[in-house]
Amino acid sequence: LKSLSNILELQSWATAHSMAPSLAAFVNYGSEDEESLRANRNGFSQYSLRPRVLCNVSRVDTTTTILQGRISLSAPIGIAPFAGCRAVHPEGEIAIAKAAAQAGIVYTVPNWAATPLTDILDNSTCSSNDTSSSLLFQIYAHKPKFPNREGFDRAHMAALLDYLAHPHSEQQQRTSNSTKSKIVGVVLTCDTVNNGNREKTYKNPTWVANLTRETGGGFPAPCALQDANRLPPVAQQGHAASMTWDDIRFLKQECHKHHLALVLKGIMSGDDAVLAAQIGVNAICVSNHGGRQLDGTQSTIQALEECAAAVQDFYTNKNSNNTNRMEIFVDGGIRRGKDVAKCLALGAKCVFVGRPVLWGLALAGQDGVARALNILQEELTTVLQLMGCRTPQQLTRQHVVAREDEQR
Ligand code: FNR
Repeated sequence: LKSLSNILELQSWATAHSMAPSLAAFVNYGSEDEESLRANRNGFSQYSLRPRVLCNVSRVDTTTTILQGRISLSAPIGIAPFAGCRAVHPEGEIAIAKAAAQAGIVYTVPNWAATPLTDILDNSTCSSNDTSSSLLFQIYAHKPKFPNREGFDRAHMAALLDYLAHPHSEQQQRTSNSTKSKIVGVVLTCDTVNNGNREKTYKNPTWVANLTRETGGGFPAPCALQDANRLPPVAQQGHAASMTWDDIRFLKQECHKHHLALVLKGIMSGDDAVLAAQIGVNAICVSNHGGRQLDGTQSTIQALEECAAAVQDFYTNKNSNNTNRMEIFVDGGIRRGKDVAKCLALGAKCVFVGRPVLWGLALAGQDGVARALNILQEELTTVLQLMGCRTPQQLTRQHVVAREDEQR
């Protein structure tokens, strides 16, 4: 592992040696022509760093907080939610949760995790010291029970939030020390009203057959919420395509009741960023689902710039002070410390990574995830020093220049 010096090397090794071809396809590919997938990576080259020198950077402190101080992090980096990771490594979510807790990085548990949530929580407490760790939980909104109703199933959603706020039964709480880990917020994925046009995987019968053959059955069944017997069953499988901002208002109120932060994932325009800020969600995550949903979008770093500017205008016009401002996160194609730095300079409070963690997981389970996180943290520290910044918070819009249009 030590000989793999960056995320791109982790990617090559994991793809060549640690994942069956059908699984590598599931992880690596995007939808349709993969324009969004490529845009995410290429987007970073469209912004240049603008360093300052002679700033006394002998000590760099990468720590930060997110969600209005609810979560403390060792660096402004989090793990995005991804289903299917137990097909990548048998320890799946547990390995990721352990590595994240030890690195002081937040993990977003996916709605379709194949490990019970209480097991993930029990394993995400830092063993080296007594600090508790915080997790986010990604939710999909389910179709309403009655077909003539619009939006998502509100009864199910309310019960789900209640469960996420107190996932352990009273007996479990008494017998384990697991209360130290908890779900601090929910991340609603908004860009998955259908399943994208993933021609190389879900839509390809050869891939489906190969996945079954090469991985001995494909994906373990989702069971994150198996202990949640308080949850009313969802009437129909599938995501609520009729969901609107009205549902987000309801969700915000429910989250508030349960002291859960609310993050909207999959925002790709300044207009939607402003609507989210108006409703008062705690954060948005600018994301195109790693290029797996709508193909042909702009890169997430471009969308981040657009969203940050729109949200800035919104708060300026409102004459609002700085307290409780909606935060902006971003994911998609982040592979280097310099990518993280560009996102922070453009206004992101935190970045999230998806595939780098899966490549690490494929290579060596928990140790591989730890290696991926460590590479990003070390690179970020080096970049901050070279940028003349002692903390991530010192990175501002002045530290990046968008390359001229003709060069793009
Ligand atoms: C995902 N992603 C995702 N997002 C989500 O909200 N729920 C999910 O279940 C999944 N599942 C999933 C599986 C796999 C294999 C991948 C690669 C991605 C999207 C994910 O959260 C994130 O947006 C992207 O992965 C970020 O881009 P990078 O870092 O992978 O380029």
